[in-house]
Amino acid sequence: MSHETAPSEIPALVASSYGATVFDDLSKVWQKCLAEHLRSVMAGETAVLNWQEPVDAIADAEALLHSGGVNPLSEQQRGHKFESLLQKMLASGQNLHHPRYIGHQVPASIPVAGLFDAVGSLTNQPSAIYEMGPWATAVEHAVTRSLCRKVGWDPATSFGVFTHGGSLANLTALLTARNVVFPDSWEHGLPQNAVLVAHSDSHYCITRSAGILGLGTRQVVKAKLDHRRRMDPNELNQLLAAQKAADRKILAVCACACATPIGVFDPLQEVAAVCRDHDVWLHVDAAHGGAALMSRTHRHLLAGIDSADSVVWDAHKMLFVPATCAAVLYRDRAHRFQTFQQDAPYLFDPSNPGMAEFDNGTRTVECTKRSTGFALWGIWALYGEEIFEQLVDRTFALGQYFHQRLTGSDDFEVLHTPECNIVVFRYVPMSLRGESVDVLDGLQQEIRSRLVKAGDFYIVQTNLDGHVALRITVMNPLTTEQDLVALLDELRAIGQDILCKQP
Ligand SMILES: Cc1ncc(COP(=O)(O)O)c(C=O)c1O
Repeated sequence: MSHETAPSEIPALVASSYGATVFDDLSKVWQKCLAEHLRSVMAGETAVLNWQEPVDAIADAEALLHSGGVNPLSEQQRGHKFESLLQKMLASGQNLHHPRYIGHQVPASIPVAGLFDAVGSLTNQPSAIYEMGPWATAVEHAVTRSLCRKVGWDPATSFGVFTHGGSLANLTALLTARNVVFPDSWEHGLPQNAVLVAHSDSHYCITRSAGILGLGTRQVVKAKLDHRRRMDPNELNQLLAAQKAADRKILAVCACACATPIGVFDPLQEVAAVCRDHDVWLHVDAAHGGAALMSRTHRHLLAGIDSADSVVWDAHKMLFVPATCAAVLYRDRAHRFQTFQQDAPYLFDPSNPGMAEFDNGTRTVECTKRSTGFALWGIWALYGEEIFEQLVDRTFALGQYFHQRLTGSDDFEVLHTPECNIVVFRYVPMSLRGESVDVLDGLQQEIRSRLVKAGDFYIVQTNLDGHVALRITVMNPLTTEQDLVALLDELRAIGQDILCKQP
């Protein structure tokens, strides 16, 4: 019996889901819902976070997931359902655009940036190779060239590429360092005497990268910090000399601009001089603080960054574009092909070597990679780089303002002088001075938990030198001085309530 394959009709659901009118209708609903959501969140009319226990949220999501397909819906019914799914998504998320979201290092992204980003989603332009996403790739090259310029490098001799996030960016840069410093390592692996020197407060992704690169935890040496928690150049000098004397070879020194816990910037000029003296690769994790390069007021914090061999700079932090968009930048353009020493002939055509220059998949862990650069490129093109300066200056100034209010209050403990928009502190009223660590830690935890569940503010909790502390990062330019004062009042009120109910 022969099975002839006849041209078939496009199945009904497929035809509907690709229908141009359906898209037109639903995108109007989408536009209306999103615009109203952003307006009300930015005006502070909603809760910052509508807290839902994770198991309940998962149950809701699962129920909705399986709610389709039982009975075929009419187009009209599907339109209603689309709107209700959308409303559920919007009502259940973290409201980063609320002026009282002052939590993680994730910004209230510039709303228009999301529109540029959506073009990548809708037209699906993954850019492992130029041909797969020509404009996405062109944009990425253009923007990373400009970021290199901001670091102080000539784009003709430096190079940059985007990855999905700062963690992957740090891994990518350190893999490049590994292959440059240990040229046989791709083939033979790392020798036993390889070590990575990391800032003691470096983000956990640095030690995680070390593990992925084949270093044991004993092969990661922590650089000592000074009294401000910055990498101490004198100590670094001694450390590098001691490692050499012990016949250990340094893969890289990882400095921070700025370090995650309290947002402090390393003295990069001095650190770079030490690395140069010891002929060691300097990697600077500027995931958060790189954006200060956009500010005439704050770029001095990064003086010396142009001496680094590699730099990581997350645009999805302080350049206020949606996640993810993280740049890996190399001072020496020659290092751009050192990250991977592999062939993938179906992608990177050896008979067309000129294109490898533009195929970013030769330099990133990802093969299929989202068009990460559209939002940053679009915002930069639309508003000019001054918008980034204004965002940095405003949020850093609010960090300073909050610090001033803390120092002027006798019931808060100030744990450092902020250099950017990160401030760490504790609520310790006079009556609790001298109390045990457990009592003070427990109080901070309880205050934060109640604050977040009440939904009026969102801040985070951290641990500094073994003590629980409260932490804010001003990631929303719509946050005002009044919001920060109100936060202190709220923390105080919750703290007092807890203390008076204690036996
Ligand atoms: C200094 C620093 N490096 C790296 C990262 C990790 O970046 P991502 O969350 O984009 O992976 C962070 C995240 O907060 C960070 O603060």
